[in-house]
Amino acid sequence: MKLLVVVGARPNFVKTAPVINALPATGIDVAVLHTGQHYDYQMSGAFLDQLGFPKPKHVLGIGSGSHAEQTAAVLTGVELVLLGERFDAILVPGDVNSTLAAALAAAKLAVPVIHLEAGLRSGDWSMPEEINRVLTDRLSELRLCHSPEALDHLASEGITTGATVLVGNTMIDSLFDLLPAADARDCCGRLDLPQKGFVLVTLHRPALVDCPAALGEVLGTLQTISEELPVVFPVHPRTRARMGGALPAAIRVIEPLDYLDFMGLQAQARLVITDSGGVQEETSALGVPCITYRTSTERPITITHGTNRLVGLDPALLLAAAREELGRPPADSITPVPLWDGRAGIRAAAAIAVHFGAGLREPMSSPTSPIADTAESRYLSSTSEEQER
Ligand code: UD1
Repeated sequence: MKLLVVVGARPNFVKTAPVINALPATGIDVAVLHTGQHYDYQMSGAFLDQLGFPKPKHVLGIGSGSHAEQTAAVLTGVELVLLGERFDAILVPGDVNSTLAAALAAAKLAVPVIHLEAGLRSGDWSMPEEINRVLTDRLSELRLCHSPEALDHLASEGITTGATVLVGNTMIDSLFDLLPAADARDCCGRLDLPQKGFVLVTLHRPALVDCPAALGEVLGTLQTISEELPVVFPVHPRTRARMGGALPAAIRVIEPLDYLDFMGLQAQARLVITDSGGVQEETSALGVPCITYRTSTERPITITHGTNRLVGLDPALLLAAAREELGRPPADSITPVPLWDGRAGIRAAAAIAVHFGAGLREPMSSPTSPIADTAESRYLSSTSEEQER
């Protein structure tokens, strides 16, 4: 079996690396296509290097543009690749423009689509990511989910063709894998930040940063928070462009960090304030308190888990939540999220092999946690009817 894995933006690299690493044991041949949606070294190359990504076989270099321009460029680029070489399936991760465009190109050519991180829903149709998620799931033949509510969303939308499998969170595999390397780089020390004594911020969603009044308000609130603890803010290029010269002096605004440095800082932060999806998950796995500055989340499991809280786009609620978190003693233990255990990539690869009948070339390495053990062996020994929940 030949599988094309399509990646384009920062979070895609983090999610797919563990699956790509696990696929050789299934006998499936993998080729990577990089759309070039993210292209700066800090946004792309550094991530690929640190995650040990294989060199992409195809590079589209689509770059920045409007939603239609990005989507159209990936659509035609992926179609050309699929017309030139036969692939048995295509794997697309997450919810970025590259994800939907690649899925659409493949589906129109009758190449089966595998969606990694399927079934997430914010219920907010004004988010480009929500449109990308819903449509990609609809186009997919195999949907790999990271939490149980995703299965319910797909069932309630009547998305039942092919199979849906709960495999766990591959983004957390990358985190657990590379946390020792991240710690060793001591980003905290290099930035002169006290361990567990600073607030880490990331904000890049259009709903916030493309609205000057909302962006101004949140920057003012971060300045107030910085009176209690240092605030460090690695700024995404979109946010940087919108901020212009309006940089509150008290906030440490720095360039986007590479994967290892950002993981190192996240692990050592006293509190994280974000509008990112992946950061809500990584803080849950790390047991670090997170405040999500958005009106909705497609990751409600991070809230029920107890590490994340949603405050809307309301600076007063953000300030109140931050003060409350900083007034509490830091948690002294981490509660694991089921199936966010460092083995999701192996389960995803196994699910792909079973679904497409590729068979296993060699036994999958032995599971290290009881959760993984149960889920993996249950999946591998279940009938395809059971797997198609
Ligand atoms: C994209 C995803 C978002 C994801 C985010 C992760 C969509 C619709 N959005 O948002 O879901 O959370 O990636 O970072 O796909 N830019 C650079 N260098 C780069 C990449 C971008 O300077 O390497 C600048 C460009 O000015 C560009 C802007 O950032 O116009 C936005 O980039 P884009 O890929 O359009 O969307 P993101 O905001 O990064």
